[in-house]
Amino acid sequence: MSRRNEFWGLVLLVAVCLLLIAFSQKEEPRYSQALKYEADTYDEADYHPNSSLTASIRDVVRMQQNLVRNALDDYPFPPGQSLNDYTMATGGRPVRTIIVTTWRSGSTFLGDVINAVPGNFYHYEPLLDYGIVQIRGPPHADSAISNLKNLLNCDYSNLQNYLQYGRTHNYLFTHNRRLWGLCDSFPQYCWNSTFLSSVCKVFPFQSMKTVRIRLRLAEELLKDEQLNVKVLLLMRDPRGTLQSRKHRDWCPGQPDCDKPNLVCADMVSDYSAAIQLQKLYPDRFSAFTIDSSTPTMMIDEVKVKKSPDIKPLPLALALATRVASCTFITLATSNF
Ligand SMILES: *[C@@H]1O[C@H](CO)[C@@H](O)[C@H](O)[C@H]1NC(C)=O
Ligand SMILES: *[C@@H]1O[C@H](CO)[C@@H](O)[C@H](O)[C@H]1NC(C)=O
Repeated sequence: MSRRNEFWGLVLLVAVCLLLIAFSQKEEPRYSQALKYEADTYDEADYHPNSSLTASIRDVVRMQQNLVRNALDDYPFPPGQSLNDYTMATGGRPVRTIIVTTWRSGSTFLGDVINAVPGNFYHYEPLLDYGIVQIRGPPHADSAISNLKNLLNCDYSNLQNYLQYGRTHNYLFTHNRRLWGLCDSFPQYCWNSTFLSSVCKVFPFQSMKTVRIRLRLAEELLKDEQLNVKVLLLMRDPRGTLQSRKHRDWCPGQPDCDKPNLVCADMVSDYSAAIQLQKLYPDRFSAFTIDSSTPTMMIDEVKVKKSPDIKPLPLALALATRVASCTFITLATSNF
């Protein structure tokens, strides 16, 4: 009996080690090099330097629209449909996806995987200007949800705080490499709301990831039939998450980030919201968990619709194991 326990203890130790190794890598992904050569990314070298000063917003938007057209030339849209049915610029409705998760959960990786699809416009961390906080309800919930909806609708006209923050924190846009290529060459338009609204509308795929709202609030997005957004909850083992956060300079001292009991309470709340949303929106809500075997497993799950033999873990079971770890952490770290 005790030998058996020893065995499982060892297995657990190895698993935890693998997890730590997997997530101690820097956020900057290695594959970004490979992604750089994709055809729909604007490359400064292609454009005459004189014209970048004189080009109007319309010129730039039209040029980007052509890049997207070329990149999706042979994209397998559903029968009878074309790119025009998917871009707002042509009266279509884009495919919208939002990843809901929390800090240090592997979402930068998953976000980049989704952004690798040609014709994708990536709203990276749109709630950065709220600081290191979790939005669970008032006072920030309404404005946060409204900002997310505006972005998913390419409406930048009421996003002054967001744009103001971005001017001094470029990483708000750098992950959106298709947009950032344009910003590089046409800096005069980069933070201009008219430009952003127009250029956003030529992209048929709109993705977003946020670590700052809890899943219960995301129901507001799912409810919006016109938006037709898909919500993915990404949940990582909280032990890995908390460990990884210790090494970030922005986390320690911020209760929503470094207090295990708050992290776990959020997780439990996400778990019950997930069970609910899966019933209400089986086609538009799904959850992903990640483990030491992360990269392959996540990519497989992203592609799950295309390969029927790969199945995600049963949701309730997968999430419950995360929540169980959390309960353990709360007990182990609570003050007596
Ligand atoms: C680019 O602009 C500069 C300065 O206005 C001008 O001297 C030059 O001839 C222009 N080059 C071309 C190719 O138009
Ligand atoms: C955006 O750029 C256009 C054209 O240069 C300009 O007319 C407009 O005032 C700018 N809008 C904002 C919000 O800066």
